[in-house]
Amino acid sequence: MAPGLAVIGGTGVYDPALFEEATAREVSTPYGVVTVQVGRFRHRKVAFLNRHGAGHAVPPHRVNYRANIAALKALGVRAILATAAVGSLNVNMAPGHFVFVDQFLDFTRSRPQTFYDDRVVHLDMSEPYCPELRRVLWEKAQELGLPAHPRGTYVCTEGPRFETPAEIRMFRHMGADVVGMTGVPEVVLAREAEICYAAIAVVANYAAGVTPARLSHPEVVAAMEGYGADLRRLITATLEALDVERECACHRALAEA
Ligand code: HPA
Repeated sequence: MAPGLAVIGGTGVYDPALFEEATAREVSTPYGVVTVQVGRFRHRKVAFLNRHGAGHAVPPHRVNYRANIAALKALGVRAILATAAVGSLNVNMAPGHFVFVDQFLDFTRSRPQTFYDDRVVHLDMSEPYCPELRRVLWEKAQELGLPAHPRGTYVCTEGPRFETPAEIRMFRHMGADVVGMTGVPEVVLAREAEICYAAIAVVANYAAGVTPARLSHPEVVAAMEGYGADLRRLITATLEALDVERECACHRALAEA
């Protein structure tokens, strides 16, 4: 049985302890070999992928996004829930809040963005994140009483440095709510692979200059670990509720590209 669902774990979400009987699979793709944990969750096969590799060793601008998504596609995955630590530009989105982002702004610079270098493919990005996955996440967050937001605009920076306060002011003028370093091109490649994709953005901190506090990676990791239990409850409730066989427009994203 192929794993129909996958979780991509970002900063602070490293273990597939969500699942029973997880085994590591080495998946070969044209972009490299990816280690994916495949396990069982309530009679379902689910895949788990560490975005930053074992021991959080790969920085955001060096993540092999194409290999990661190609590996999940090769395993037969039809829907991905991706966790992402973010800074908040929106005072209503406080640390510990979950944001089911619906739009992105792309400020990355050096990352391969497509599987199609030899063919002209212009993908529609009207709804980059799967509306059905977002709907279920929002429903489950409400049922669990978690602080959450049903939509938001994610700005992806190149990193690995944090932003300047001037950049954050600019992004705020552009309509961004949260900032992270890994959401793009992951969401774009998932769409090219015709896999439903939703990001669970977890606010770890206020972005630079929103409060006087300085930012540090260990603090982001510690904050994310603090929100881990809520995140796990949200992910398990969502995985349980999702219909793996469901047909979705995301599965036909290339039809008009
Ligand atoms: N900026 C960029 N990425 C992040 C942040 C931030 O403030 N917090 C967590 N990931």
